[in-house]
Amino acid sequence: MELQKVAFLFSFLILITVSSATSVVDFCVADFDYPVGPAGYPCKNPANLTVDDFVFSGLGVPGNTSNIFKLAATFAVDTTFPALNGLGLSMLRLDIGVGGVVPIHSHRVSELILVIDGPIIAGFISGDNIAYYKKLNKGDIMIFPQNLLHFQVNVGDKPALAFVSLNSASPGFQTTSPSLFGNDLPTNVIEKITLLDAVQVKKLKELFGGTN
Ligand SMILES: *[C@@H]1O[C@H](CO)[C@@H](O)[C@H](O)[C@H]1NC(C)=O
Ligand SMILES: *[C@@H]1O[C@H](CO)[C@@H](O)[C@H](O)[C@H]1NC(C)=O
Repeated sequence: MELQKVAFLFSFLILITVSSATSVVDFCVADFDYPVGPAGYPCKNPANLTVDDFVFSGLGVPGNTSNIFKLAATFAVDTTFPALNGLGLSMLRLDIGVGGVVPIHSHRVSELILVIDGPIIAGFISGDNIAYYKKLNKGDIMIFPQNLLHFQVNVGDKPALAFVSLNSASPGFQTTSPSLFGNDLPTNVIEKITLLDAVQVKKLKELFGGTN
């Protein structure tokens, strides 16, 4: 009797698990005629799709690294590659010029990097403020756990190339320095919340287009 109850409960739990993990469609290519919601975009009519909707050719060419970070990040995410909508993954190409960096940033999901041309120093900082970092060479991969601050630095004498994949079609990037200094939060408030001095805050506001 008890055993039957347990068996019933167990199959009930399996049913719940399976039904919540099952989608009623095979795919949902984003239709940008409608706004995005928490679960992504509405689907294009499958009758209008071709194989080309499932192919993205944008990662084959180097991006423009003429900027303060000497970085070009080319995105294959739901907004650039609509077939990723709802499928929980995305990919980026990173070109990092000589002396360039991927500045410290975070996102909602985890990231796996594959180094094609290095070396780079890559690392993340845990919630306990421990820095895990290492020099990575061609073929190395490293995981950056979700939400944690992380970065990459080209330490070679030629441009570096890497590809990253993230387990969301919309990873939600937040880059620390532009976020802190590229807005109108008053300098004296930023001084208080960062312990930086006014000269440094003003310098970074200038750099990232912030005011006040
Ligand atoms: C999509 O397919 C439907 C049904 O075949 C058709 O009526 C409609 O015009 C198509 N829409 C576009 C944008 O091609
Ligand atoms: C790269 O970006 C810089 C700065 O925006 C621009 O001046 C330059 O023309 C771009 N180079 C190419 C090849 O597009």
